[in-house]
Amino acid sequence: MKGVVLAGGTGSRLYPLTRVTNKHLLPVGRYPMIYHPLLRLRRAGVTEIGLVTSPEHMGDVVNLLGSGSRLGVDLTYRVQDEPGGIAQALGLCESFVGGEPFVVVLGDNVLGEDLTEEVAAFETQAASGGGARVLLKEVHDPERYGVPDFDGDRITRVIEKPSNPPSSFSVIGIYFYDASVFDFIRTLSPSQRGELEISDVSNRYAGLGKLSHGILSSWWGDAGTFEGLEEANKLARDLVYDELPGVPD
Ligand code: G1P
Repeated sequence: MKGVVLAGGTGSRLYPLTRVTNKHLLPVGRYPMIYHPLLRLRRAGVTEIGLVTSPEHMGDVVNLLGSGSRLGVDLTYRVQDEPGGIAQALGLCESFVGGEPFVVVLGDNVLGEDLTEEVAAFETQAASGGGARVLLKEVHDPERYGVPDFDGDRITRVIEKPSNPPSSFSVIGIYFYDASVFDFIRTLSPSQRGELEISDVSNRYAGLGKLSHGILSSWWGDAGTFEGLEEANKLARDLVYDELPGVPD
């Protein structure tokens, strides 16, 4: 399975930390933030990865990661010219993905387990009808995230940053899709914040009864805000990826 890591956006919620650098290069634990999604994918056997970032920061990202070989991954880069949202960034990966089911990780998501089981679960789903799969985590502040609404055990819709969350779960930034996601993205309209929302993509699949979900058992952090960055740094403080030769010393 191929993977996509989305690392665009302006990082405005972390300004001025992000005035001269990309949010995804800020430190989380012992590593630059972007190492975390890349290495979680690698541990799940996903090594062919499309990486989307903004033109302002592509140079720094390539300086850090190069071809990806030091991290044991093979990177293909795509540039998101304007910050038009997560779903827009994903749309840039259509030719990279090449019609196969794939996994997406947001570049600011940090988690305490690898994705092996979830990749296997989606491979099974993809072989029997396809669709999409999201991962959930119970949180104390769901209004910060995309929040699922349930009918029994089935997600009926995902609401982006609701003021009255219908459940206490967050849809975390790890998504599995079949290739029909690109057709859905082409039909999306910008939200109130002017972005193509990933939650709207989930809703297309939910509407077709093709959105499955898993619940993450490990810790998880979204490092995209000051609060989230601090939390992610605490959670990842002692996390060491043994497979990284020479890092840390
Ligand atoms: C994005 C998604 C949101 C999701 C979150 C997970 O939000 O829009 O649905 O719950 O990532 O990290 P953002 O952090 O970009 O505001």
